Amino acid sequence: MSGTQAAHPAASASDPSSIVRLSTAYWESQTLLTANRLRIFDVLADGARSADEVAAALQLDRRSTALFLRACVGMGLLTESSGCFENAPVAATFLVSRSPAFMGNVIRYSDQLYGAWGSLEEVLRSGKPALPAQTYLGDDPARTRGFVMAMHERALGIARALVSVLDLSGRTAMLDVGGGPGTYSVLLTERFPGLKSEVLELPGVAAVARELVAAAGAGDRVVLRDGDYHSADFGSGLDVVLMSGMFHRETGQACRGLIERAAASLDPGGLLVVSDVFTDEGGAHPTFAAMFGLNMMLTAPDGGVHSDADVMRWMADSGLRDLRMVPLPPPMPHRVVLGVKP
Ligand SMILES: C[S@@+](CC[C@H](N)C(=O)[O-])C[C@H]1O[C@@H](n2cnc3c(N)ncnc32)[C@H](O)[C@@H]1O
Repeated sequence: MSGTQAAHPAASASDPSSIVRLSTAYWESQTLLTANRLRIFDVLADGARSADEVAAALQLDRRSTALFLRACVGMGLLTESSGCFENAPVAATFLVSRSPAFMGNVIRYSDQLYGAWGSLEEVLRSGKPALPAQTYLGDDPARTRGFVMAMHERALGIARALVSVLDLSGRTAMLDVGGGPGTYSVLLTERFPGLKSEVLELPGVAAVARELVAAAGAGDRVVLRDGDYHSADFGSGLDVVLMSGMFHRETGQACRGLIERAAASLDPGGLLVVSDVFTDEGGAHPTFAAMFGLNMMLTAPDGGVHSDADVMRWMADSGLRDLRMVPLPPPMPHRVVLGVKP
């Protein structure tokens, strides 16, 4: 899509409804974020309750709670019958903390960034993130744990989709660069027996990841190494290097350097897997990817978004061949770029 075309609904010249909708979209975001923060969906997990009962359980104002719950009904998160509210199926699956598909920590992370989005203009003026990245990458233990748990929940979904498009049969040695909670390594080494993975991570994040890897019973096949991927040795003799969700924190130049070092560490036939939210060429589409770039700009010094076409060019320049891009199935916005060392 060219830079002059607009695929977003705001494109219509005769109907302002899409503009109105965009200007109030945060009402719904804040309603979901607040409901999740208050654990409204847990309060309703065992059956229907009246607004007064919910208000009493959470020590909220009764009149406000009734308005709030009706708004949640309007958004499709709850249903109401005979004055009592229940979780809609989507909320019961993804927003109740005891559900295996619980996404509450991911939503909590968005909640924590709500204030940063309020600083968008300031960030545009200063060119500096609204939130120092180190806050959630080690400096503040509680926020670091929250960030790692959010990554873990998100990765449980994304990595399962990745496993379905990635064949690592017969491969034995993987380096998972900036591997976060280690979830990809745990799931990939489980899916492909014989594969072992080393996760390279910053110390504060690695400490939480060690707990998650141990809890998954994967300590014999996934090890954590404390280190900075800008300076750490990637080693040699690898047959897979995974770089997932880290390019959006880095400049194009840094991504290029990381790809070169990954290519150098691979044996012939070795595979580089780069998974992230990427835009099409031009950087404006899909809309979610362009917005994701802003979200990263607000939260990391070099945060942004790259196009998959750029990643492929950098891989080709590093001598990798058989380049392919595989989109993960919806609703994942991620694309996976693959390259093989000849
Ligand atoms: C968005 S997360 C992706 C985590 C994981 N790969 C995934 O896809 O779920 C980016 C990760 O890069 C790590 N990271 C950022 N800068 C790093 C650095 N200089 N060295 C090592 N890890 C780093 C962060 O701690 C974080 O876990």
